[in-house]
Amino acid sequence: MDRLNFFTKRSMKKINKKNFKKTLSKFTTGITVVATNNSSVLYGKTINSFSSLSLSPPLVLFSLDKKSSKLKIFKNSKKISINILSRNQKIISNNFAKKTPDWNDVEYEILNNGNPIIKNCVANLDCEIIDKIKKGDHIIFICKVLQVLNNYKLKPLIYYNSSYF
Ligand SMILES: Cc1cc2nc3c(=O)[nH]c(=O)nc-3n(C[C@H](O)[C@H](O)[C@H](O)COP(=O)(O)O)c2cc1C
Repeated sequence: MDRLNFFTKRSMKKINKKNFKKTLSKFTTGITVVATNNSSVLYGKTINSFSSLSLSPPLVLFSLDKKSSKLKIFKNSKKISINILSRNQKIISNNFAKKTPDWNDVEYEILNNGNPIIKNCVANLDCEIIDKIKKGDHIIFICKVLQVLNNYKLKPLIYYNSSYF
């Protein structure tokens, strides 16, 4: 056994909740707000489990904690918007990480299908939820992307090691 291999094997730690969360925090992500309109009441949630899934058809996914107070709202939604936050939208990320976010200070527009689109994001995706998969303590939402908006002048909000950059 070479030296490097020996040290790697000795340093590997059995997985537990604490080191799992810490390890995942080393993966750099963007930040999105997933939003929906339920009978004219708007809901939004800060989500960094967003990922691309398929190019053809255009699919993306995100996962939501089964314990979320808004699980029922999102499970019953057919349409959602995914708003990819820009560098100056840390306040928006913190707002939508609260149990009861405040939409009053958020600039947004409502699309014809009812989806709220947050302004000044790097990009916005207008989506239809086509599948939900229960896995572990989360539900994976598979979404078909119908329309997109890109704001090429803005830089993204970045999340790494539990901090914004
Ligand atoms: C940076 C960041 C990323 C988050 N990503 C997710 C996520 O991918 N999935 C999720 O269920 N909650 C995520 N959350 C937590 C939610 O935004 C929210 O705080 C949580 O769902 C608690 O509120 P609730 O019980 O009303 O849902 C994230 C929070 C932060 C600050």
